[in-house]
Amino acid sequence: MNRSLVTLADHSREKIEYLIRMAQEFEQHPNRLLLQGRVVATLFFEPSTRTRLSFETAANRLGARVIGFADPKVTSGTKGETLKDTILMVSNYVDIIVMRHYLEGAARYASEIAPVPIINAGDGANQHPSQTMLDLYTIYQTQGTLENLQIYLVGDLKYGRTVHSLLMAMRHFNPTFHFIAPDELAMPETYKTYCRQYNIRYEEHQDFDADVISGADILYMTRVQKERFSDLMEYERVKDRYLLKLDMLSHAKDTMRILHPLPRVNEIEYAIDDDPHAYYFQQARNGLFVRQALICDALGISLEQVKNDKTIIL
Ligand code: CP
Repeated sequence: MNRSLVTLADHSREKIEYLIRMAQEFEQHPNRLLLQGRVVATLFFEPSTRTRLSFETAANRLGARVIGFADPKVTSGTKGETLKDTILMVSNYVDIIVMRHYLEGAARYASEIAPVPIINAGDGANQHPSQTMLDLYTIYQTQGTLENLQIYLVGDLKYGRTVHSLLMAMRHFNPTFHFIAPDELAMPETYKTYCRQYNIRYEEHQDFDADVISGADILYMTRVQKERFSDLMEYERVKDRYLLKLDMLSHAKDTMRILHPLPRVNEIEYAIDDDPHAYYFQQARNGLFVRQALICDALGISLEQVKNDKTIIL
């Protein structure tokens, strides 16, 4: 059985809820020796702060050892070694590979050739399933449910892999999405087709003001993905189009929470950080517990085993 995590689109509602329950166990007790003797590789062909460090912390707090690289320039890829050979080589040394790559489909490819599980830590503008699991965990934590929510996605909906992953995973939970993006960064047609296929309601907005976002349960801000633009002039035109300001929260529901996968560039005014609607740093913290669950699940460790675990370090 291939236990790789390439996309959450493959996951059932039951599987998502199961992973949330497992992450809750890790939030209670993140320090355990469940993975003692295991080795985890983190191969990052693209820059990262949160995803790499939270995966590595997740593994370390579970007693595993971690090898890998944060910059492909220090690898033999610079001498011409292929992705295939790199994956097969690293598979000789480790029990699981966490990989971020700039090519869409790279994680799928790796999962088809590797003898160990692959966790997709982001492939180009395609998918970012571990981010989506922590987004789902955070939405559940803040709203008490994943059902029937009004979710506003703002910013770069064209290249933002986190919004693509989230949209697909939410299909089980009857959401209504609101897409707020400039024309140049609109949600791609393929994801709108996906919505229609799964009866996911969506509305598109150009305006971004207090009235438009007053119905939001979740306001999901995103960074304009400079690295995906072939024309930097176009990036300059759109980069500061949607900035969330404190006064725009005047009509927001008390229970509304602002999420952002981070890094933030110029999408959320710093004054909002102290507002009770802001939840993006807690969201990033949840990445640790969710990634502990994802590593364990990929290694075949069940929720029952986590619950019965006697290796907790208090
Ligand atoms: N959210 C996210 O993927 O952040 P990093 O690029 O820092 O890993």
